[in-house]
Amino acid sequence: MRISKRVLGALGAATVAIAGCGGGSGAGLDSNGRPLGEGNDPSGPMTASFSSIQSHVFTPICTACHAGGAAPQGLRLDASNSFAMLVGAASAEVPSLKRVAPGDAANSYLIHKLEGHSAVGARMPFGGPYLDANTIGLIRQWIDNGAQK
Ligand code: HEC
Repeated sequence: MRISKRVLGALGAATVAIAGCGGGSGAGLDSNGRPLGEGNDPSGPMTASFSSIQSHVFTPICTACHAGGAAPQGLRLDASNSFAMLVGAASAEVPSLKRVAPGDAANSYLIHKLEGHSAVGARMPFGGPYLDANTIGLIRQWIDNGAQK
């Protein structure tokens, strides 16, 4: 079969256009619409920042259940709700504990749920696979550093 030079040239241009669009998420932005860098890019390494935890854990793993009106225990973990629903907010299961107590990971119910020693209910993510120790360690570090946005 013969393919004209013009067709090949057009294919080349199309390939460059696709490769140049940054994976469809907008130039320099991650899937949450935040600037790349500081570990926000889910394809890069996770860091102990809120936006990195959101893009590496909450959005890809937790929102499978924790989103919308039927979110378990009313806890929505999508990017527009998670911070307000976690930081300084009481747990529904153990109301004497904050889901995230800034500066105090050991007494944050989120950590109890992720490490599997909560007083009520199952380890998260419900049914597994569970987060590895390094990932939980970064979430602990974010909380101990003050749980900044
Ligand atoms: C397959 C569904 C599912 C997934 C995925 C899931 N959860 Fe849950 N989550 C639940 C259910 C159901 C409950 C309530 C029952 C229980 O605690 O066992 C719950 C409860 C919780 C609670 C307690 C809320 C409170 O106010 O007391 C926290 C915190 C939590 N989940 C965090 C997470 C995090 C963080 C992730 C992601 C790493 C996650 N969950 C992934 C289903 C899920």
